[in-house]
Amino acid sequence: MVFPEYRPRRMRQNETFRTLIRETSLSPGQLVYPLFVMPGKGKREEVPSMPGVYRLSVDQLKKEAKSCLDVGVRSVILFGLPEKKDPMGSGAHAQHGIVQKAIAELKNSVPEMTVITDVCLCEYTDHGHCGCLNGHDVDNDTTLELLARTALSHARAGADMVAPSDMMDGRVSEIRSTLDENDYHMIPIMSYAVKYASAFYGPFRDAADCAPQFGDRRSYQMDPANSREALREATLDVDEGADILMVKPAVAYLDIIRQLRDEFDLPIAAYHVSGEYAMIKAAAQKGWIDGDRVMAETLLSIRRAGADIILTYFAKDMAKLLRQ
Ligand code: PBG
Repeated sequence: MVFPEYRPRRMRQNETFRTLIRETSLSPGQLVYPLFVMPGKGKREEVPSMPGVYRLSVDQLKKEAKSCLDVGVRSVILFGLPEKKDPMGSGAHAQHGIVQKAIAELKNSVPEMTVITDVCLCEYTDHGHCGCLNGHDVDNDTTLELLARTALSHARAGADMVAPSDMMDGRVSEIRSTLDENDYHMIPIMSYAVKYASAFYGPFRDAADCAPQFGDRRSYQMDPANSREALREATLDVDEGADILMVKPAVAYLDIIRQLRDEFDLPIAAYHVSGEYAMIKAAAQKGWIDGDRVMAETLLSIRRAGADIILTYFAKDMAKLLRQ
């Protein structure tokens, strides 16, 4: 059936028709808002390269979490800025570490908020790498134990879900067995299964003060050129017990999100990262694009590619826009 029998414009002629046939939806409950927590009281420091994103002390974090709930965003992911860093990243699993404190206080004062934690060492090591070193190399197997300890400390503090982002081999099974041995069978693991060595993380590294002090992360994060390897990484994490598979970054990797969606039946998450946020914000501030519309179109594209969950610095803005 071709023109003039079939006219696609028929179903585009009014908003009710368009709504009836809309294939993809976006709702606040699918969004996860990243939060950066820092020591002190009353602290609220805007990240220069991420307008609208703040590093917050715990008291301010609670306020922020409440304002998320008010617009329907029910999940946050926490990143910590510790007081001190050391070669082993011991602040990551400290019983009274910054994230552990934040989890406890959040769950205490805003219990309806789902608290996910990023499990990695890079914010806690003085060299800025995601694990402990052996010479100039990140030592995979000794790092595993530290990651598992970190995940366990988050669970003990009351976290609802843990999300390892380090890209060490075998970390999902190590974390799963440590959580299980300690009776945290019900804490899900959202694995950063497919995480690329990306320049889009630049603003985050300013926010979390975790740029590597030498070298780069290409010996553990993935080569942006590879997609078959993404499937292999995801298969490993499924076998090791991941509950959710994440792709990161999002927009430059929509094809990878789609491949994972088609290949696996687990929920898929996508991290719309700091650089992706910063570019939209900057162009909008210059008046070169309509920031709200580009935000909505971008997040919709990530859902259309196949992501169930989107981690994004736009979570609150998008949720507000959806309410209008
Ligand atoms: C920690 C981590 C990073 C991000 C999330 N977890 C930084 C990195 O790997 O360098 C990036 C998030 C963003 O850019 O928004 N390993």
